[in-house]
Amino acid sequence: MNQKPKGFTYTKTNANYIQYFKDGAWSEGVLRAEDTLTISATSTSIHYGQQCFEGMKAYRRKDGRIQLFRPYDNARRFQTSCERMMMPTIPVESFVQAVKKVVLANESFVPSYESKNALYIRPFMIGVGDNMGLKPAPEYIFSIICSPVGSYFQGEVKPVDMVVAEYDRAAPHGTGHVKVGGNYAASLYPQVMARRNGFADCIFLDPRTHTKIEEVGAANFFGITKNLEYITPKSPSILDSITNRSMKYLASHVLGLKVLETEIFIDDLSHLNEAGACGTAAIITPIGSITHQNKKHVFPAHETMGEYTRKLYELLTGIQFGDVKDPLDWIIVL
Ligand SMILES: Cc1ncc(COP(=O)(O)O)c(C=O)c1O
Repeated sequence: MNQKPKGFTYTKTNANYIQYFKDGAWSEGVLRAEDTLTISATSTSIHYGQQCFEGMKAYRRKDGRIQLFRPYDNARRFQTSCERMMMPTIPVESFVQAVKKVVLANESFVPSYESKNALYIRPFMIGVGDNMGLKPAPEYIFSIICSPVGSYFQGEVKPVDMVVAEYDRAAPHGTGHVKVGGNYAASLYPQVMARRNGFADCIFLDPRTHTKIEEVGAANFFGITKNLEYITPKSPSILDSITNRSMKYLASHVLGLKVLETEIFIDDLSHLNEAGACGTAAIITPIGSITHQNKKHVFPAHETMGEYTRKLYELLTGIQFGDVKDPLDWIIVL
């Protein structure tokens, strides 16, 4: 296989993983080639959005071996999402072992080191079984699919233009902190509108006051201030990004930047030299401008990736592809 995937799209691979939860217990997980599911038309995942998922990647190293980046973090976050959705959890070690099985079964689909693409891995759980009323499902499916992917934001890594959404993706005490479909369903309309209007994506503000940046549709927001601080929003309704966790560590321990998790007011962006979106799919995508209520704020680093964003990009992707030593055992070589 190993040809270049076009953007963030699905290519059917050799095998996916599936496990069933029935009568209070998980079945033995198996690998299978078929990538469709047959479920009851009354499944809670269809009607009530009882589901959750994860997103992670397997990377090809220069020596040809394959590695995972912080899979235990994904396993723990998946448990948090399952619990919030009233679904049974998967033990952390079982989750990671299942991910490894899927990657090894699809070894030939992991893009080459030179391509700088990766195998995207999508573990998910859905509520299934016959059910009519609003209550947790009687049965569940845990599955892991994967696909080679290119970049989420098309083209080379250069600053993109974003617009502030007029809609919220999650309520203040809702499900914004977990990775569940409802958050993404709510973000589709503003995202499509943003793209139709020529923006790469939209940025969501805090749902209570609509004055502070929360996050991008499928990525966290970060900035580099004029005082050389790494700044990222603190909010209970955003996803605790594993990429952002890693960047906070690298910014502080490798680049010597002060790390601030604080409020970033949409009307006061002039203290930022650089801005960006970070996540497994987005990797690190620099943001050149943000338009809010027809006013466009252009960051100083809007033509090419800013100095510190580039340093973070090189460190992070260097670790993910095995060129830079990971500081805290983030990497698992298969
Ligand atoms: C809403 C949202 N925020 C942030 C992220 C980034 O999280 P991570 O770095 O763990 O991929 C994602 C990506 O999955 C996301 O969907």
